[in-house]
Amino acid sequence: MDPRGAGVPGTTILSESTGRVVRMSSAIRFSAYGDPDVLELVDAPDPVPGEGEVLVRVRAAGVNPADFKRRSGLWSGGKALDAPAGLGYDLAGVVEAVGSGVGTPKVGDDVFGTGTDTYAELAIATPKTLAQRPVDIPWEVAGGIGVAGRTAYRVLRQLEVGPGDTLLIHAAAGGVGILATQLAIAWGATVIGTAGSDNQAFVRELGATPVRYGDGLADRVRAAAPDGVDAVLDASGRGELAVSVELAGGPDRVITLAANDAKEHGVRFSGSDEGVDVSDAFPELARRISSGDVVLPVWRTFPLAEAADAHRASEDGHLRGKIVMLP
Ligand SMILES: NC(=O)c1ccc[n+]([C@@H]2O[C@H](COP(=O)([O-])OP(=O)(O)OC[C@H]3O[C@@H](n4cnc5c(N)ncnc54)[C@H](OP(=O)(O)O)[C@@H]3O)[C@@H](O)[C@H]2O)c1
Repeated sequence: MDPRGAGVPGTTILSESTGRVVRMSSAIRFSAYGDPDVLELVDAPDPVPGEGEVLVRVRAAGVNPADFKRRSGLWSGGKALDAPAGLGYDLAGVVEAVGSGVGTPKVGDDVFGTGTDTYAELAIATPKTLAQRPVDIPWEVAGGIGVAGRTAYRVLRQLEVGPGDTLLIHAAAGGVGILATQLAIAWGATVIGTAGSDNQAFVRELGATPVRYGDGLADRVRAAAPDGVDAVLDASGRGELAVSVELAGGPDRVITLAANDAKEHGVRFSGSDEGVDVSDAFPELARRISSGDVVLPVWRTFPLAEAADAHRASEDGHLRGKIVMLP
C-alpha cells in the first residue's frame, strides 16, 4: 500500500512497503499546475521532523500571493511539478514534536511564523522561522503574520527607513502593506499609502495618508507629500516603478517586491533577506500586535477543505488584510 493512499485523516494505516504504522492527517496537495480546483484535501502521512526541525500542529495558515503563483505554475520555470505537492508558508500552531538538536521551541509551545506545506494539520518548520505566540494574539491573526510580516520588516530595513523619512507604499491595504505601513510609522516615518477607493479610510486608520492608485497617481502623491518622498516600497507590481523613481528622485531608495521590470528602471527587486538581520522581525511584530500598536485584520477565513475558494479570494487581489485557512 502506498503510504499516501487511502486512509482516514487522523487515523493510522499500515504501510505494506515498510511494514510500519503510518499516521495520517489532512493536508492540501496538488498534482498539476493549474487553476484553484487543482487543490485537493487528502489524507497524507504525518511529516516527521528531522534534525533541527520542528513539527507544528497548525491552528491557522495565512494565504499569500506566493501560494497561488506557485500553484498556477508561474514560478515553475517550465519544469514539471514534483507531485503530489503541498502548499503554504505561513503558520501558527502548537509544537507537536522536535527533531534532534532543537532546544527551543519546546513541545507544547504556541508558535507562529513560516514553515513548509502549511496548508495542513501538521507542518514542518525550523526554530529560526518561528517565534512564540503571545496568548492575546488570536490564532488566525498569528497565522497570517509569516511571509507578510517578515517581508515588511526586511524591506523597511533594506530601505533604511527611519525618523524623518517620507515613505510611499504601493498596495498599503495588502498583507505586506498593512504591516509595513505600521512598522514604518512606529520607526518614525511618515507614510503615503496607495489603495483602491474602498480602502482609503482603512489606510488612514493605519496612520498613513491614503492616495488612490491609477492615473494621476504622481500628482496625488505630490499633493499629499509636498516636500517629496524619500523612499518607495512597491508591494503592488502593477507598473508603478517609473512614477516611483520620479517621485523618489532616483532608484536608490525604491524597492519592489513584485514588479518584473525592476532592472529596466534600475530598481532593486527584493526576494530574500539579502544580508539583512531579520531575527527580530517576528518578536517585534508579536510585541507590537500584542500591545495593539500594530493591527493585522483578518479579511476572511476558510477551512482547509475550501482552499480553492481561499485562492480565488486571494487572486481577486482586492483585500483588506489576511486570508487565513483554519485546519
Ligand atoms: N519578493 C518577495 O519576497 C515577496 C514577499 C511577499 C509578497 N510579495 C509580493 O508582493 C505583493 C503583495 O503581497 P501581499 O501579500 O501584500 O498581497 P495581498 O495581501 O494580496 O494584497 C493585495 C493588495 O493589492 C492592492 N491592489 C490591487 N490592485 C492594485 C493596483 N492596481 N495598484 C495598487 N494596489 C493594488 C489591493 O488593494 P485594494 O483592495 O485597495 O485594491 C490589496 O490590498 C504580491 O505580488 C506578492 O507576491 C513578494
